[in-house]
Amino acid sequence: MPSTFQPVRGMRDLIGEEAKAFTNIITTARKTADLYGFREVITPHVEPLELLSAKSGEEIRQRMFIFKDLGERQVALRPEFTASVARLVTTVLKNEPKPLRLFSVGTVYRYDEPQKGRYREFWQSNFELMGSNKPEADAEIVLLTNSMVASLGLQGFAFKVGHIGVIRGVLSQEGMDEKTQNAVFQRMDKKEYGEALKLVESEKCRAMLKGLLEIKGKDWKETVEQIKSHVGGYEKAQIAAENLFEILNLITQSPDITVTVDPAFARGLEYYTGMIFEIYIPELEIALGGGGRYDRLIEVFGGEPTPAVGCAHGIDRVAIALQEQKATLNGKNGKSVAVIPITDALKSEALKIAQQLRAAGISVEFEVMGRKMAKALEDADKRKEDYAVIVGERELKESAVMLKDLTNRQQCIVPLAQLVEKIKS
Ligand code: HAM
Repeated sequence: MPSTFQPVRGMRDLIGEEAKAFTNIITTARKTADLYGFREVITPHVEPLELLSAKSGEEIRQRMFIFKDLGERQVALRPEFTASVARLVTTVLKNEPKPLRLFSVGTVYRYDEPQKGRYREFWQSNFELMGSNKPEADAEIVLLTNSMVASLGLQGFAFKVGHIGVIRGVLSQEGMDEKTQNAVFQRMDKKEYGEALKLVESEKCRAMLKGLLEIKGKDWKETVEQIKSHVGGYEKAQIAAENLFEILNLITQSPDITVTVDPAFARGLEYYTGMIFEIYIPELEIALGGGGRYDRLIEVFGGEPTPAVGCAHGIDRVAIALQEQKATLNGKNGKSVAVIPITDALKSEALKIAQQLRAAGISVEFEVMGRKMAKALEDADKRKEDYAVIVGERELKESAVMLKDLTNRQQCIVPLAQLVEKIKS
């Protein structure tokens, strides 16, 4: 009698070409991790329910595969990687120097309604950068997503960006408690804006939020300017809008990035505190990846307060995107370099240089901690980087940088036009 066994609803077998497509995407994700200085961690598929449900949000809590193990422990299949990585940072990795750049890849589980691009078992490549509250850390996460998607050969992709702190700033100042705020975000995530507004009791606050959601500028700068002026008088919201501006200003130094700012953008996960983003291609309505800043999760897990930002890419969806665009893969390889601006004012120039090196296949850890040169160099040494690229005003005026060879301690001034060649030689 033929077997009638099928995979569990929402779960799939990947065979031959399809499995190969997944492996290729995972290889590119790993190369991106290398290129941006992320270390891989492998964590269990099953975690304590309490860990996975803290701060993940109602949406995910209701869609977890939960069970009791034979020892009567309440456990669940991981619905994402962030909680597991945060657990590591509060335990075995707690004494490691910050920033920590951690990469994971594997399957995650959510009881979503199965349809094209939506499964109950799916794959993610996940990146978490922990220990920096600076906009350059947010920029790194967006830029690595851009690099990964570009090196997969996808075309026409664009980022949707927002900032949870803007709306939280307004709602908090108007006295709304966090739980109601989270409920507002859940509705917004589902694009149920009318329902979201119904949860706002005060007339003044509702009008304020409605106005914010309706802002549309001709480009990201104009949109952020409009947001800033709309939230005048709401101090935290203004700081958040300024932070969004700084992040976007850094990201858009990269010539090959497309961003739009959406003030009505919210994400289903509850832990976000700052910039949030998703990446799309024109052929698909579903996001290929998403992430954002979450500065309070690690302390909820009992760790030291540790600012963090991260993202995950849906590999199943990336495979669909590649199929839609019939794109081919072209992974890259490289050496490792720390790029360090001497002063804060030089960070966007320095980031531009970091991006040029990465585009040439050189692995770069960009300085995201705002540290003094000596400290940053000491750290680059510990991390066994091959070179430090020191971006200073004097050299930059001559279109050059200081290149320090960290193995023989020698340094010399190198014109930007020859930097890639010099590092690779
Ligand atoms: P997320 O937006 O829930 O974020 O998921 C990331 C990506 O996983 C989505 O953009 C999508 O491509 C894919 N995805 C989500 N649900 C499904 C599904 N049912 N079937 C197939 N693909 C799916 C997170 O998971 C956060 N942990 C990201 C993060 C890391 N934020 C900070 N650090």
